[in-house]
Amino acid sequence: MEKIIDENKQGESLALDPKAGNKRKLFIESYGCAMNFSDSEIVASILTNQGFNTTQKLEEADLVLVNTCSIRDKAEQTVRKRLQKYNAVKRDHNPKMKVGVLGCMAERLKTKFLEEEKIVDLVVGPDAYKDLPNLLAEVDEGRDAINVILSKEETYGDVSPVRLNTNGVTAFVSITRGCDNMCTFCVVPFTRGRERSRDPQSIIEEVNDLWNKGYKEITLLGQNVDSYLWYGGGLKKDFVKATDMQKATSVNFSNLLELCAKAQPKMRIRFSTSNPQDLTLDVVETMAKYNNICNHIHLPVQSGSNRILKEMNRLHTRKEYMDLIDNIRKIIPDCSISQDMIVGFPTENETDFQDTVSLMEYVKYNFGYMYKYSERPGTMAGRNMEDDVPEETKKRRLQDIVDLQRLHSEIKTKEWLDKTVEVLIEKESKKSNTQWSGRTPQSIVCVFPKVNYKVGEFVNVKVKNCTSATLIGEAVGYSDNN
Ligand code: SAH
Ligand code: F3S
Repeated sequence: MEKIIDENKQGESLALDPKAGNKRKLFIESYGCAMNFSDSEIVASILTNQGFNTTQKLEEADLVLVNTCSIRDKAEQTVRKRLQKYNAVKRDHNPKMKVGVLGCMAERLKTKFLEEEKIVDLVVGPDAYKDLPNLLAEVDEGRDAINVILSKEETYGDVSPVRLNTNGVTAFVSITRGCDNMCTFCVVPFTRGRERSRDPQSIIEEVNDLWNKGYKEITLLGQNVDSYLWYGGGLKKDFVKATDMQKATSVNFSNLLELCAKAQPKMRIRFSTSNPQDLTLDVVETMAKYNNICNHIHLPVQSGSNRILKEMNRLHTRKEYMDLIDNIRKIIPDCSISQDMIVGFPTENETDFQDTVSLMEYVKYNFGYMYKYSERPGTMAGRNMEDDVPEETKKRRLQDIVDLQRLHSEIKTKEWLDKTVEVLIEKESKKSNTQWSGRTPQSIVCVFPKVNYKVGEFVNVKVKNCTSATLIGEAVGYSDNN
């Protein structure tokens, strides 16, 4: 399953407080990355103004929307199964129900959805959600509706997202859309279009609004956050054509982090995802300068082999990545670092794989997300390279690095034993209703007895014990941030 959104949230239907007067019922569920979950909040906001309230009962829905993921074949299969389920409910209980597909699969498959999946009435790509009112009007008149046009401008900066199934403590704020990196294995540039950045003013307003509503931690979201660049609108690649004035007043990711950190000095600030070729040290220095920017960088590398990195069109070498890690640790010694890794990319041999293993040994990541290569139609690798690593080999390599990561996680987690860490309480622990669960700035989960503390409070916790991924401790008082 995808990072950030934990496994038990995948496919969870999302609900918000009903708005009086709204008569129609929307069932919306999301799969895939954090950006999809964030987009569903934009969709829900648009539909709240169209007379919809959310429901978590499929049987009573007038409209079912599924926000889909195309990153690997398995993600698409999961959605296909859900469509069958909707079909069954529609047939047996609710013949008037309409079904719409949103997100990356909608963009990738376009009209094919309307042709193949008889149950689908509506297909909407990631940049077309503002057209939903028009598309729904068509559907209401009995016609299928589709809009999969990708945009060079749309950032939904002017849509105030409604927070779905929120803990009231942590929230996503999207800052860029799309990706221009063209990693050869990746479908995202095709399904989410060109990279564009959102107006910093609207980002700060959203952060302030979240703070006023009681939120204590935000995650700035983008496929490649370090590439954020605002110079009054427009694509990043056109920055060279910007006026001197636009260049002088432009805002890069480091500037944006600083703006957010200063706007709400007690709000914890996180970001995801960083890209090694775009993460510059000024960002790390800004992190070091502001206490409220959390010391964690998710820094996917995908492979430790120079040859494979090149085939993947990752625009850095193994050595450059290692130097970046060294520099991060020099500037922020307690910074946690996490990874995404792919095994079994076409032509990956045992030597390449051992390079991945040795890179992991070098970095000793705090945690990571590891995948078997899944060929995606239309990508450069999908078109030009044979998916030639046998499934058995992929499986073994995946197991090897999953085991290695567990070992490293354990080593890194143990480093916190007997130390006092700041935890923002997010929810009840899954394992015990007498314990709270939250995360340290390094994004390490920590559980401890509730005592009199409450969700949303910053607490200092003395770490007494740990598992490979979780700190176990006891609260010793409020932190200064509270
Ligand atoms: N920059 C994005 C990356 C999205 S994809 C972000 O915001 O995280 C998330 C991860 O899925 C990638 O880092 C990569 O490790 C994995 N991935 C992408 N395409 C894949 C494919 N074709 N097969 C297997 N894993 C893939
Ligand atoms: Fe995909 Fe590479 Fe962009 S993994 S989202 S093309 S940075």
